[in-house]
Amino acid sequence: MKLIAFGVRKDEEPYFKNWEQQNDVKIKLVPDLLSEENIDLIKGYDGIIGLQTTPYKREYFEKMKDAGIKILSIRNIGIDNIDLDAAKDNQIPITNVPAYSPSAIAEFTITQIMQLIRHTKIFNEKMSHQDYRWEPNISRQINQMTVGVAGTGRIGRAVINLLNGLGTKIIAFDPYHNPELEKRGMYVDSMEAMYRKADVITLHMPATKDNYHLLDAAAFSQMKDGVMIINTARGTLIDSEALIKALDSGKVGGAALDTYEHELPIFDHDLTGQKIDDPIFNNLNERNNVLITPHIAFYTTEAVKNMVEVALNCATTYLNDGKMTNPVVEID
Ligand code: NAD
Ligand code: COI
Repeated sequence: MKLIAFGVRKDEEPYFKNWEQQNDVKIKLVPDLLSEENIDLIKGYDGIIGLQTTPYKREYFEKMKDAGIKILSIRNIGIDNIDLDAAKDNQIPITNVPAYSPSAIAEFTITQIMQLIRHTKIFNEKMSHQDYRWEPNISRQINQMTVGVAGTGRIGRAVINLLNGLGTKIIAFDPYHNPELEKRGMYVDSMEAMYRKADVITLHMPATKDNYHLLDAAAFSQMKDGVMIINTARGTLIDSEALIKALDSGKVGGAALDTYEHELPIFDHDLTGQKIDDPIFNNLNERNNVLITPHIAFYTTEAVKNMVEVALNCATTYLNDGKMTNPVVEID
């Protein structure tokens, strides 16, 4: 069995090497993400271990079919960037790693909520030029606020568990109701109901065609004045231009964005000293009440280890036994 892994960072290598030794399977490690430039490397391999937020296009699946690839095992959660129809059409089964560490993303979400509420970016900026005054940046306490959790899957529930310890009032929306949260009366009937009640709204749903720009001008207009928005899910959930207008008017009091709809040319690239040719990004990034991070909510040693090991196990289980663990696309 031969495997090839794309987008392999230095911090992942020890987990790949260790797994290789324990399982006696050779894996070709490619540092670059799968792309037009390197897709021909897949020839001669049985399975691909992928990781990326850049698109997995139809042409890639056509090339995978031609190369005799039997499985694409992605070592992350989101599948919004994958042409799933093309995978089916070309008979390429896909697995993912749906629960590598909900806590990693949840802990980061809480970090960003707290930083926004306590104005850390503003104080850091003031202190950088020796302004140590308190006023006017007084904070509110999270134990007096209502946090709206949109999406109560693995990550949303991990966020709720952490919020419980902070004494926050929590409301949630998800078309699917988790029985335990239902018993606790946590659900509101619609996003609109959440908009009316929440001081902080944190997004934890996958990006789909239906929820593209879920938070748009109409949504912001229904929210409480000064609401804080947290997005550690996917950038396309927020209309960034509408967010800018809502920040300008004060309707939105702050935002923490770990994902951004046009993030691909920016996040996880070293652009030191370069002008970023994205006025929307620059506008958001320059604001002292907007915290932008480069899609790092997942980035912990625990998560990375699980991502690598589970993805490799998914691929080999399928190649050895034909059994799909964590199926995204199944082929009859
Ligand atoms: P999950 O599948 O366990 O839960 C998603 C939940 O969202 C489900 O309960 C679903 O019913 C709900 N949902 C779907 N559409 C909705 C809508 N329109 N409104 C409200 N709820 C809706 O997924 P998860 O593990 O909790 O992950 C959520 C998302 O987080 C992923 O899809 C991915 O996009 C993102 N993510 C980001 C990072 C990061 O590093 N920033 C890391 C991992 C995952
Ligand atoms: C995911 O797992 O979906 C993420 O957003 C993490 C990223 C490394 C792709």
